[in-house]
Amino acid sequence: MTKANKQIIIDLRFGENPEAFLPAVRAVKEEAEKINKYPEPKREQLINYISKNEKINKENIYITNGIDGAINIVFSIYADKKSEIILPVPTFPDYEFSAKDLKYKIKKVPLEKDFSLDIDKVIKSITKSTKFIVIVNPNNPTGNQLINNKDLERILKSFKGLVIIDEIYFELTGETSIQLLNNYRNLILFRGFSKGYGLAGLRIGIIFANKKIIQKINETEGRSNKFIVNRLALRAAESVFLNLPLTREYINNFLNTKNEFENQISKIKGIQVLESKTSFSLFKLAKLSNNIPDKLKSKGILIKSTKVYENFPNNIMIIGVPKKEEIQYVYNSIKEIIQYG
Ligand SMILES: Cc1ncc(COP(=O)(O)O)c(C=O)c1O
Repeated sequence: MTKANKQIIIDLRFGENPEAFLPAVRAVKEEAEKINKYPEPKREQLINYISKNEKINKENIYITNGIDGAINIVFSIYADKKSEIILPVPTFPDYEFSAKDLKYKIKKVPLEKDFSLDIDKVIKSITKSTKFIVIVNPNNPTGNQLINNKDLERILKSFKGLVIIDEIYFELTGETSIQLLNNYRNLILFRGFSKGYGLAGLRIGIIFANKKIIQKINETEGRSNKFIVNRLALRAAESVFLNLPLTREYINNFLNTKNEFENQISKIKGIQVLESKTSFSLFKLAKLSNNIPDKLKSKGILIKSTKVYENFPNNIMIIGVPKKEEIQYVYNSIKEIIQYG
């Protein structure tokens, strides 16, 4: 293929960090010499770093292969056909997919028009069969904080089942409920390395929970699938904690690029930027325009279709952050589509 006809592809579907974290790249390259060896089954070194960094006991930490893996293992160890899961919608669809695969009943609590979550509606939805309440905070796709710690404590006090808070975007906001772990045995927190830390391709994530829950996970996945997290992922995740000033700089660079991207797109007439505390940007269109994802695809830009989300307005575009040098091309492409269809 010649340079002239090479198709541009800018993939903005998943809200990834568009740049790699260089200390992680170096760590992976070094570790590549040892891929003939199995990874450490107990993931102790990484757990030590996380424990120190978060000031959380090691026995409250489990490492698995991404939050996707965390959802699966936590749902599966408590699965039975009679149990319900309360899920505010729209939200990250994998919770519903995994719950359905495991035959849970799903009770959806629709978000309000302004995307806020009515906590009383959540509490009223609880029944004897409710095993989990899941809250993605801040939420994908609405970009907002759904719950504060005061309201979370109200739920934790009034509910005997387990509350999962998905904090995959924590590194971008600094807001967390981790301090509640010591007081509530029914709180489970998920954190990831895929967004702020830029390790989406390596599949690694964290479960923080009460010691008994972590023990239960260790007795299942930790035993039957003990090599589930590979050694490259472990070294890359450790590099995040071994290079904290660079990690902060990497996250700040991402936030700056996101800002620049949103400022640029806001110059297009008929587009309003909505606040998003996540790794993707939200743009509201004054006029509904059909098939924007398809039209952008023809220009080599891939964005997520809003159809994957239940109850999400179709005049909002969900777009990941491009590289700095791609912003102008994405801006020109969106502008052309909005102006000329
Ligand atoms: C809310 C939320 N949770 C979890 C994930 C997946 O996380 P991981 O890459 O750690 O599996 C995503 C990915 O977009 C997400 O938006």
